Amino acid sequence: MSEDKPRIGVAMIGYAFMGRAHSQAWRNAHRFFDLPLEPHMAVLVGRDEQRATSAARQLGWDAVETDWRRVIEREDVDVVDICTPGDTHAEIAVAALEAGKHVLVEKPMANTVAEAETMAAAANAARGRGVHSMVGFTYRRVPAIKLAQQMVAEGRIGEVRQVRAQYLQDWLADADAPLSWRLDKEKAGSGALGDIGAHIIDLTQFVTGQRIAGVSGMLDTFVAERPVAESFSGLHGTGGTERGPVTVDDAAMFLGRLSSGAPAVFEATRFAWGRKNAIRIEVNGSTGSLAFDFEDMNVLHYYDATESTETAGFRRILVTEPDHPYIEAWWPAGHGLGYEHGFVHQAVDLVRALGAGEDPTPSFEDGLHVQRVLDAIERSSAQHSTYTEIGD
Ligand SMILES: NC(=O)c1ccc[n+]([C@@H]2O[C@H](COP(=O)([O-])OP(=O)(O)OC[C@H]3O[C@@H](n4cnc5c(N)ncnc54)[C@H](O)[C@@H]3O)[C@@H](O)[C@H]2O)c1
Repeated sequence: MSEDKPRIGVAMIGYAFMGRAHSQAWRNAHRFFDLPLEPHMAVLVGRDEQRATSAARQLGWDAVETDWRRVIEREDVDVVDICTPGDTHAEIAVAALEAGKHVLVEKPMANTVAEAETMAAAANAARGRGVHSMVGFTYRRVPAIKLAQQMVAEGRIGEVRQVRAQYLQDWLADADAPLSWRLDKEKAGSGALGDIGAHIIDLTQFVTGQRIAGVSGMLDTFVAERPVAESFSGLHGTGGTERGPVTVDDAAMFLGRLSSGAPAVFEATRFAWGRKNAIRIEVNGSTGSLAFDFEDMNVLHYYDATESTETAGFRRILVTEPDHPYIEAWWPAGHGLGYEHGFVHQAVDLVRALGAGEDPTPSFEDGLHVQRVLDAIERSSAQHSTYTEIGD
């Protein structure tokens, strides 16, 4: 927050949904948190110069480029922040790392395991040159989720026995909701599976401190054709009369086993009418349970089974106290945080790691593992849900 902090130059590629979320994070991180380096919003990349210039002005970026290749050559850029669809991630990330730029890439890290392996290899090589990388599994930075992770690590629910995790949305439940890149396998890699299933895979691994070792998957596509989008913003748009094919899954259900052998059950769908962004995770341990729902994101539910049954019951922890993760930098207790704060915390954690010369998490290795889980679910689904081990 002092004026003489060294700057760290950021280039952001893509300026729509995630671009706006990341921009507010880069604008605010050092204004609320004490950081070793001050983010400088050096350059925004968009393919249409006029629209990119107007976005840069609105979002707070100093300059504009129309080709990402230009920013990885710029001396005022230290971090390349990739907010584009999955089909672009590998090429941009590998080139940026090779050019000596730190990389933050949105999830899922890539569209295929092969791409993710190339990215992880580039990240490993770059680490040796002091260049770091991170994947944008933002929900790890929700204070209630971080608190859940700490409580599991402290043994507050004993040994993890079972996990159930869901990511439920409804923006595709209307069969006339238009096609966007998220419904195109070439651009997105997969559907609900990679888009939102990837988040609950990461959250389960983060909260339990374990990896998913094997899966049994079942994918479904409910609506095979949709109107081609005439305009689109965020998750919603309007379609015309022309129709095109949906080439990804609409819903992904899978069972998994954690490295300890504990079973976990998952569901990711964009067809759950009434559920807007319900990311739910419940962990049952040998001495208690934890439960979270993003639609009530400032709250963590905790059941302590060591208490007397006379008074035991789920405790509603309002995760807004100054001693809760990330909260001290924000508002007085009870004033609550929102969706955008996770992105600020992500920028804070990244800049602190870079300032200390440490590897931020989740790493590209973590991103590669998630990609392997996604791939195993697809292969399992294609083989009548056969249990499929995740390779290393
Ligand atoms: N962390 C999260 O919670 C979260 C949430 C939503 C999306 N995402 C991820 O963020 C990424 C982007 O998703 P989005 O929702 O912001 O998509 P979007 O469609 O809203 O925005 C994508 C942007 O990328 C631009 N773009 C596409 N190809 C480009 C290229 N070659 N060069 C420059 N710009 C290009 C588009 O013009 C657009 O500005 C995806 O990987 C998605 O899975 C993460």
